Amino acid sequence: MDTAHHLLGIEGLATPRIEHLLELARQFQIAPPPRSLAGKRLLLLFYEASTRTRTSFEVAARRLGAETVSVTAGASSIEKGESLLDTVYTLRAMAVDGIVVRHSSSGAPHLVACHVDVPVVNAGDGMHEHPTQALLDAFTILRHRPSIEGLTVAIIGDILHSRVARSNLLLLSRLGAHVRLCGPRTLLPPEFAAFSDRVSLTYDLEEALAGADVVMVLRIQMERMRESFFPSEAEYVARYSVTSERLRAARPDALVMHPGPMIRGVEISADVADSPQSVIREQVENGVLIRMAVLRELLGETA
Ligand code: NCD
Repeated sequence: MDTAHHLLGIEGLATPRIEHLLELARQFQIAPPPRSLAGKRLLLLFYEASTRTRTSFEVAARRLGAETVSVTAGASSIEKGESLLDTVYTLRAMAVDGIVVRHSSSGAPHLVACHVDVPVVNAGDGMHEHPTQALLDAFTILRHRPSIEGLTVAIIGDILHSRVARSNLLLLSRLGAHVRLCGPRTLLPPEFAAFSDRVSLTYDLEEALAGADVVMVLRIQMERMRESFFPSEAEYVARYSVTSERLRAARPDALVMHPGPMIRGVEISADVADSPQSVIREQVENGVLIRMAVLRELLGETA
């Protein structure tokens, strides 16, 4: 199967396909979808913790009439050390029509895709990509702005470990946004500037927020750190926490986003998270629409 039959990352995803997925999600938002995936079975293979992503794939599949089989680490032979491919071969015997994979190793969904003859969707692979998150973020912005072209998007926090940051900077810069990445030096390697000439780096939060149209805040991914990347949480909060006072540097109507899970009082203050500018809950709703679009495109008869 070629890459057009999977969704493994934003890199390599053709712009017309991105536009098609956003349009499909828009249609699903307007009209309740027909059960066009009735009789299909989707395998959700989650090797890492997930709340929003797993449940939204599940809800999306069911709204389209498909059934889901969920395999999560901790409740399966994954825990006993079975290799990823052995698990996939076992589950393939259950005649699934598509596989959604989340894994702590970058490239795991690509490996699965090489060994199965059904579509594979990357639901987050290590520090690499999280394409459906970036698509739902773009979709969310487009529900509030006519176009992404020309917007300034500030992505703040643990950029280094974030697959959300990587997929978003690839997608939003492709769609014409200027992306400002901001975080402590240890969590923002200079190489990130090389992704696109529409991407810039700053270690200064105020500079990142100045005049921004969209402020995307990220969690510190402690689980991916084997060493200390900043002196203390208090120090991080003092320099990088997005508070209402600091947010005043952005445009007054700037959208505040967070992929979740958010740690209130650390990367974002509670009042910012709950402010009228926040579209954080809407991101979750839009996640279902985008995942419906992705599943319809990959598993539908006329896909
Ligand atoms: C993110 C992830 O898992 O990459 N969450 C999500 O999918 N909504 C971000 C995070 O874990 O901080």
